[in-house]
Amino acid sequence: MSTRSPISPRLLSRGVSIRDGRAFIHRIAVAELAEEFGTPLFVYDAEHIRAEVTAAVQATEWQVAYASKAFLCRELARMMDSLGVHMDVASGGELHVALSAGFDPARIVFHGNNKSEAEIEYGVAAGVGLFVIDSLAEIARLERAAKAAGRRQPVLVRVTPGVEAHTHEYIMTGQEDSKFGFSVTSGAAEEALRAVRSSSWLDFQGIHAHIGSQIFLLDSYAKEVDALAVLVQEHSPRILNLGGGLGVAYVAGEENPGFDAWATQLFAALERNGIDREVRVMVEPGRSLVAQSAMTVYRVGTIKRLEGLRTYVSVDGGMSDNPRPVLYGSGYEAFMPEAADAERDQIATVVGKHCESGDVLIRDAWLPSSLAEGDLLATPVTGAYGYSMASNYNRVPRPPVVFVDREGARLAVRGESFEDMVRLDL
Ligand code: LLP
Repeated sequence: MSTRSPISPRLLSRGVSIRDGRAFIHRIAVAELAEEFGTPLFVYDAEHIRAEVTAAVQATEWQVAYASKAFLCRELARMMDSLGVHMDVASGGELHVALSAGFDPARIVFHGNNKSEAEIEYGVAAGVGLFVIDSLAEIARLERAAKAAGRRQPVLVRVTPGVEAHTHEYIMTGQEDSKFGFSVTSGAAEEALRAVRSSSWLDFQGIHAHIGSQIFLLDSYAKEVDALAVLVQEHSPRILNLGGGLGVAYVAGEENPGFDAWATQLFAALERNGIDREVRVMVEPGRSLVAQSAMTVYRVGTIKRLEGLRTYVSVDGGMSDNPRPVLYGSGYEAFMPEAADAERDQIATVVGKHCESGDVLIRDAWLPSSLAEGDLLATPVTGAYGYSMASNYNRVPRPPVVFVDREGARLAVRGESFEDMVRLDL
């Protein structure tokens, strides 16, 4: 649901303010950033991320592992490291970015339903704190790598609790029919837990589950804990990792459930199931820590008015920097950084520059009627699964990423050039 009224401050990061219609982030005009770094541009509010991480840690009093698939670059890894949280990586590439930024390997949780031998060896050699075992085949693979390294590898066992969280089916993961983990109800989880606990090279630390992403109905988490309770009683894990998935508002009318409500729900379920405080609970939020910390700033190119049909507003990015609308039908809003308090009194469809009709960023967006070619247009809430899922479709270079806080703006990831489009070609 989008509205005519100006963009809601609730969709913008904490450091954004609007003065005389102009949007500023920590006192730097968004338009100035666009001028300096070019468009499209990912603008991250570094203070916002720090505040969200602190809020998550305080609300849960548990260990927070940032799910780096939401967004990862060295600058962010350094920030997460300095905040002392753990990090979930789901590939050798994510592991490499974290390690190359100096992130403490002991606080890394290594996920993946199909980690390669090379990835496993890399993680073991680097001293990754926890591997999350996802299959019986992986038990054997990890044992071999641990033995070769001469060190017992601490692990969690990933189970599928059989909970259907209400979200898009592509990002629903806790249900029985899933490529992830071991099913609790079929007995596969029990079998895997026994195998891990009797292994001489694996050091059983605990149980992991993740029910999906962009979850608003928090009682799904209570169901998750209920489904895990028997395993917890039988196997006395030191760590219980309940995954991530907390939902985030992208458009007007949606509300962030928030870390406090999430924690309250989980605390109650743990208590009801008699899961005592000896168990170290870990959560793994990605989206909720970074989504609202960023906006993408585009420049409007062509505006096409098809009489009686639709107005197309084309921007200089599109599905290559934000594939979520195409993949999941996700909604976004847009505003003009130089007229951020303007009424949005016309409906138009915001499209990218890619060579296909499906390249739509926002279908039927409310936009100010003053919007003209050459203006800036920004989409808030693009901090999670935007840059991290960006591609070079049509050989469009990926945009730069800038971090802003009270100290100023600094480039965290440089934008790609046309020359970068042939960097890998032989
Ligand atoms: N832990 C595990 C094991 C996960 O698989 C995920 C997300 C998370 C934690 C973090 O979930 P979050 O708190 O960010 O919801 N590309 C999709 C989202 C895919 C999520 C995959 N796993 C999107 O753009 O909506």
